[in-house]
Amino acid sequence: MRLRLSKLRIAPAVMRTIKPTAMSIITTSVAARWILIVLLAYRRVGQPSPTVVRLKSVTSTQDVARPLPIGSIVIADHQAAGRGRLDRRWESPPGTALLVSFVLSPNPVLSLAAGIAAAQACGADVRLKWPNDLLLGGAKVGGILVEVASATAICGIGINLTWAPPGAATLNQDRERLLGRLRKELDRWASADLQDVLDRWRELSDTLGRRVRVELAGKIFEGVAQDIGPGGELIVDGNSVSFGSVTHL
Ligand code: BTN
Repeated sequence: MRLRLSKLRIAPAVMRTIKPTAMSIITTSVAARWILIVLLAYRRVGQPSPTVVRLKSVTSTQDVARPLPIGSIVIADHQAAGRGRLDRRWESPPGTALLVSFVLSPNPVLSLAAGIAAAQACGADVRLKWPNDLLLGGAKVGGILVEVASATAICGIGINLTWAPPGAATLNQDRERLLGRLRKELDRWASADLQDVLDRWRELSDTLGRRVRVELAGKIFEGVAQDIGPGGELIVDGNSVSFGSVTHL
């Protein structure tokens, strides 16, 4: 069987991606390969491209990021309604924090992976409190909120740079350089092997081995944080904790 590529109905943009020499008659075995190439090229042409959006003020970078394609990034100087985990608010005066949301592919340990990426971008003094608070000298310097939409995960990261609420810490680093390092680290860790994520999280953890108080759904208990499980859950005295708030004692 012979196939004439020029007789296939292909979008003009895709046609332009195919070399003219290849437009001549080709044999069956090669034809299958070409059809695959054309389909892949068509998919790429048809997909929206990721964008980087920089804004002065937003409600929450999470809201702006939600409809954007995977790979997009939203950065703002100020959020009027920034969100934290467990329905908390995340507030900072304009220009005093890194406030960014990344549109990523969902992954069961994305929240831990994002914590690792952020800690490594911040520097060696920053450690992790389960599930992904960033601690500097034991005080919170940043936090991560992962919200899963239909086929994407919106990973919001807030890091205090020159202002922090009472009891929290500031990182005092240049925002653009920090963002550059964060993008690289997140690129790597969001697609890392599960075992590598769990191992690195254990190394950066300030929670494991400590006595902790766990509050979830109105229940409070205390125990020793022994390890994390394969889904990123915290193991406290043999109990698996997937949600809720943890306090270091
Ligand atoms: C937490 O520690 O509870 C998570 C805080 C996450 C804050 C960031 S700032 C950028 C993004 N937009 C939001 O509204 N929240 C996240």
